[in-house]
Amino acid sequence: MIPQVHLHSLCLLILYLTTGYSQEGKFSGPLKPMTFSIFEGQEPSQIIFQFKANPPAVTFQLTGETDNIFMIERDGLLYYTRALDREARSTHNLQVAALDASGAVVEGPVPITIEVKDINDNRPMFLQSKYEGSVRQNSRPGSSIGTLTAHDRDEENTANSFLAYRIVEQTPKLPMDGLFLIENFSGMLQLAKQSLKKQDTPQYNLTVAVSDKDFKTLCSVQINVIDINDQIPIFEKSDYGNLTLTEDTKVGSTILAIQATDADEPFTGSSKILYHITVGDSEGRLGVDTDPHTNTGYVIIKKPLDFETAAVSNIVFKAENPEPLVFGVTYNESSFAKFTLIVTDVNEAPQFPQHVFQANVSEDVAIGTKVGNVTAKDPEGLDIRYSLRGDTRGWLKIDHVTGEIFSVAPLDREAGSPYRVQVVATEVGGSSLSSVSEFHLTLLDVNDNPPRLAKEYTGLFFCHPLRAPGSLIFEATDDDQPKFRGPHFTFSLASGNLENDWEVSKINVTHARLSTRHTSFEEREYIVLIRINDGGRPPLEGIVSLPGIILTVVFIRMKKDKGKDNVESTQASEVKPLRS
Ligand SMILES: *[C@@H]1O[C@H](CO)[C@@H](O)[C@H](O)[C@H]1NC(C)=O
Ligand SMILES: *[C@@H]1O[C@H](CO)[C@@H](O)[C@H](O)[C@H]1NC(C)=O
Ligand SMILES: *[C@@H]1O[C@H](CO)[C@@H](O)[C@H](O)[C@H]1NC(C)=O
Ligand SMILES: *[C@@H]1O[C@H](CO)[C@@H](O)[C@H](O)[C@H]1NC(C)=O
Ligand SMILES: *[C@@H]1O[C@H](CO)[C@@H](O)[C@H](O)[C@H]1NC(C)=O
Ligand SMILES: *[C@@H]1O[C@H](CO)[C@@H](O)[C@H](O)[C@H]1NC(C)=O
Ligand SMILES: *[C@@H]1O[C@H](CO)[C@@H](O)[C@H](O)[C@H]1NC(C)=O
Repeated sequence: MIPQVHLHSLCLLILYLTTGYSQEGKFSGPLKPMTFSIFEGQEPSQIIFQFKANPPAVTFQLTGETDNIFMIERDGLLYYTRALDREARSTHNLQVAALDASGAVVEGPVPITIEVKDINDNRPMFLQSKYEGSVRQNSRPGSSIGTLTAHDRDEENTANSFLAYRIVEQTPKLPMDGLFLIENFSGMLQLAKQSLKKQDTPQYNLTVAVSDKDFKTLCSVQINVIDINDQIPIFEKSDYGNLTLTEDTKVGSTILAIQATDADEPFTGSSKILYHITVGDSEGRLGVDTDPHTNTGYVIIKKPLDFETAAVSNIVFKAENPEPLVFGVTYNESSFAKFTLIVTDVNEAPQFPQHVFQANVSEDVAIGTKVGNVTAKDPEGLDIRYSLRGDTRGWLKIDHVTGEIFSVAPLDREAGSPYRVQVVATEVGGSSLSSVSEFHLTLLDVNDNPPRLAKEYTGLFFCHPLRAPGSLIFEATDDDQPKFRGPHFTFSLASGNLENDWEVSKINVTHARLSTRHTSFEEREYIVLIRINDGGRPPLEGIVSLPGIILTVVFIRMKKDKGKDNVESTQASEVKPLRS
């Protein structure tokens, strides 16, 4: 069936005639290689050309890339039946031949080329339907965020595929609209007017349009404002000048306020500032506390200042962030500031190097022995005079000049150890300021106490005449420390003539038993002297008297006796027995 032919539409065709084709502008002609250019998207059933063949040709044949679109009539009318699509095939290579009645080729085949011309029938498409990008806060206007890419299938380098980008909407419009810019041809998205702050708006959504001359496509772009420590703290000034303080300025005093600023996001580890002293304060006399709201650093005295050791210090501060800086950013000179601390002298009291001086000495040292020494220094270098305070027993004296301490009386550990006195150092001249320290003298024990009875014994009572031997358990003690007096006591009767009537037997390290040997005692008072040896080095003995009275009611009574009185004396029988 012959399609309806619209001859007038042939005007739409632009004919490019092949070499040697002389009938330019003609719509019919002999069979020759030819090229036709046809716009895509045109109404179908269009006539392209009318081929004429010489006899004996009676019919035409079309082969090649017809795609079932191109047809040829028996009489040589070439036409197409559907709209062409350049994006499907931009060039159709066809062949046309003329056949005779028997179907044999009499002319051709000749190549017929159909070039499909572009029309803008494709809308631009973004490679992604949604883009996400980020911009570091405080980035400068012009900073690139990323590039959006769209594509158009229409013919390259023609107006049909020429794309322009545009921001349609920004959400939110805070602090203002137009914060972003897209380069209309490259699609590069960048920061337009001002740097952004994360705490103002952490996220923006943009609607971006890409258009060719007829179509427009939208896509959404999400931009996150991110925090990065890319700014260093900068001091307001590099030199805080001279600061003069007296050396007695109190610990805890705030002496200076310093200020650096950091352009990173406020109240984060990227903008918080910690101040360190890097030079001039190895002793740690100063510290810097930072106000977290203002980043102001307050310089505080942490340890006493001292004119004598450090009169002038050149202090250098460094302002740092707790967070590390991003790669490529480093602290520079602007993060440092200095000041000069000048400490002035005030007269100070002498100083002892320690609060307590200690010495050990045996309690039996000879009078006049040096038992210790103390030293103090006056910060201003004045001479010092030493004296003692609180020497209640009058045991010690101090050399006023050297601070050496001597014993001036017998010492006794048992009377009190350690013996504590105060030493006073007074500067000679100046304001006669003085300081006090302690001197503790520990007295080392020697075995200088004989054994004695641990308590007073009230005695045992025996009826006269005795019916059975009786006994009394008694305990000995010693005022020396156990390690000096020996491991145990030994007990014996102090006089041989007591042995007929009495017997002493040891029970354990401290206790012994006094017993009667028989029952035939007279009705009278007996004095029983007992020797107690402490086994120490040297061994000391005590003689204790145990007065026994045997009456109608016989009892033995033991008297607690001052052991010392009986030292080295077996003649202690003089000791008066106690009568109750
Ligand atoms: C492209 O952007 C430039 C400014 O960068 C502007 O002058 C021009 O008009 C824009 N063109 C289009 C087609 O929007
Ligand atoms: C941006 O769009 C996403 C959804 O695509 C939404 O979850 C988000 O809340 C939007 N942000 C803003 C600031 O409007
Ligand atoms: C600080 O003191 C030094 C001397 O210690 C002096 O040379 C300098 O000029 C002083 N600087 C200021 C700012 O007063
Ligand atoms: C330190 O770096 C900052 C930028 O990070 C700059 O503004 C400043 O001038 C620099 N200071 C010095 C002393 O180079
Ligand atoms: C005194 O003796 C004690 C031990 O008994 C010892 O710890 C201390 O260091 C001695 N002090 C001096 C000053 O010798
Ligand atoms: C004073 O005592 C110290 C120990 O506290 C000692 O090192 C020094 O030698 C003593 N000086 C004299 C003069 O005894
Ligand atoms: C020694 O013997 C007495 C009397 O039997 C007893 O009270 C004391 O606890 C004993 N002491 C020791 C150390 O065994």
